[in-house]
Amino acid sequence: MNFPNNSNLTEAEVRRYALCYGLALASVAAAFALARMFIYFHLPQPFTSFAMSAIAITFWYGGAAPGILAAVFSIFIRNYLFPEDVNLLGRLGYNFGFIIFALLMIGVRRRRSNLEVKVAGRTAELTRANEELNLEIAERKRAEDKVRQSEAYLAEAQKLTHTGSWVWEVGGKRALHLSEEWYRVYGFDPSHGLEAWRKRLERIHPNDRAKRQETIDQAINNKSEYDIEYRIVLPDGAIKYVHSVGHPILDCSGNLMQFVGSSTDITERRLAEEALRQAQSDLAHISRVTTMVELTASLAHEVNQPIAAAMTDANTCLRWLNRDEPNVAEARGAASRVVKDATRAAEIISRTRLLFKKGTPQSELVNMNDVIREMLVLMIGDMSRLSIAVRMELADDLPQITGDRVQLQQVLMNLMANSIDAMRDADGNRELEINSQRGQNGQVMVTISDSGVGLPPQQADQIFNAFFTTKPNGTGMGLRISRSIIESHGGRLWASDRLPRGASFYITLPIEPPANE
Ligand SMILES: Nc1ncnc2c1ncn2[C@@H]1O[C@H](COP(=O)(O)OP(=O)(O)O)[C@@H](O)[C@H]1O
Ligand SMILES: [Mg+2]
Repeated sequence: MNFPNNSNLTEAEVRRYALCYGLALASVAAAFALARMFIYFHLPQPFTSFAMSAIAITFWYGGAAPGILAAVFSIFIRNYLFPEDVNLLGRLGYNFGFIIFALLMIGVRRRRSNLEVKVAGRTAELTRANEELNLEIAERKRAEDKVRQSEAYLAEAQKLTHTGSWVWEVGGKRALHLSEEWYRVYGFDPSHGLEAWRKRLERIHPNDRAKRQETIDQAINNKSEYDIEYRIVLPDGAIKYVHSVGHPILDCSGNLMQFVGSSTDITERRLAEEALRQAQSDLAHISRVTTMVELTASLAHEVNQPIAAAMTDANTCLRWLNRDEPNVAEARGAASRVVKDATRAAEIISRTRLLFKKGTPQSELVNMNDVIREMLVLMIGDMSRLSIAVRMELADDLPQITGDRVQLQQVLMNLMANSIDAMRDADGNRELEINSQRGQNGQVMVTISDSGVGLPPQQADQIFNAFFTTKPNGTGMGLRISRSIIESHGGRLWASDRLPRGASFYITLPIEPPANE
């Protein structure tokens, strides 16, 4: 079969057309051959039924147009190639029969096509649904991967910060979730499962159990957050410090259902704090000793004074006694001055020894006026050398406070030493002013003001920081230690500039230190 070159038909389509139309011709030709064979063997003339089968086969497999061709072809063969065994009406009847049959077959074919279209539609729908399902599965897998990944990140973060998370049910007092890090913090094997939750109570330090339970009970009663620190004791006896934070979860009617929270192992932090505290206390001692070394010279001068006075008085006493007529009254007066001088020297020395002592803070009743006077005695030598005038206004009715006398002496000494340093290079009048007064709520307030160089400009807020110093040989610890001493007594220490020049330092101290000190 030849087809024009410009046709859009593909080779496969050409082959298909050839097959379909060939089928029409071949099937009707086969019907014709069979019918001839039947006639040859004097069998009843069957062309009509063969032709119908041929038409039907062509319609079914070849399509409507080849089917119609088969019908036309059958009419032609029936009319012209068989002996005229029927009359014209009969022939028309046959032709009509072929046409009706062809029309019926067209209907059947159309039905089949509709059915095929429907099946194809259904198949397409099913394919689409299947694709959507696959997409959904892929999406879910991606989401699951994401959740898994963020769980892995979370576990890593928990490991890094030694923080375990948990959820526990208030009603049944049992755990609903424990993260892997939680098991590690408590020293359990994660394979213990939620059973470990019950066993954790045995791990809590016996001294901390009651306090911890009380805090949790209170949070349950108030449906509130809780925040506690306690120790746990591991089977090998090691102690860990744990910080737990819990957040209440309520249902829609406001009933407390669960607590969600975390437990962090803060042992390292605690040990570091402990080491820092130790270092600070050592440093305080060192600083006290260093300051004392610097003061030794002035101390010698200080002690020298009463000793020299005692010598003079003793000589006077001797002179009165060595007279031809000894004047006992004068001699007694001189001798008692000797006793006073010696007592003053002894006091200076014993106070100095007190400052050198290292020990745990002692609580005793302290009169701040006495502390001021004692320290002034130690510093007065330095001050007179630098021509510093001292003005003191001490309240007579100052209440006694409870505190560590040696520590408070150290604060006063640090502040006075700083004032002396500040005035060393200052021009004009050098004046140290010390006041004590009864403050609000019966507190004791001490003010030390000088006419020195003033607080370092722009850095005034840093002077209480450790190691902040503007002096070539300064330690930068004096104010830091002083503030921590005052705060440990429940008081406050702060500074401000003084007009027209100099600086003022203020101390307030409560009569009783805070209960936990
Ligand atoms: N009375 C004062 N007047 C001016 N500046 C002061 C005074 N007292 C302290 N400062 C400032 O605060 C700094 C820190 O003081 P301090 O902690 O005692 O350490 P140090 O005396 O070793 O420098 C000082 O270096 C100084 O700059
Ligand atoms: Mg200092």
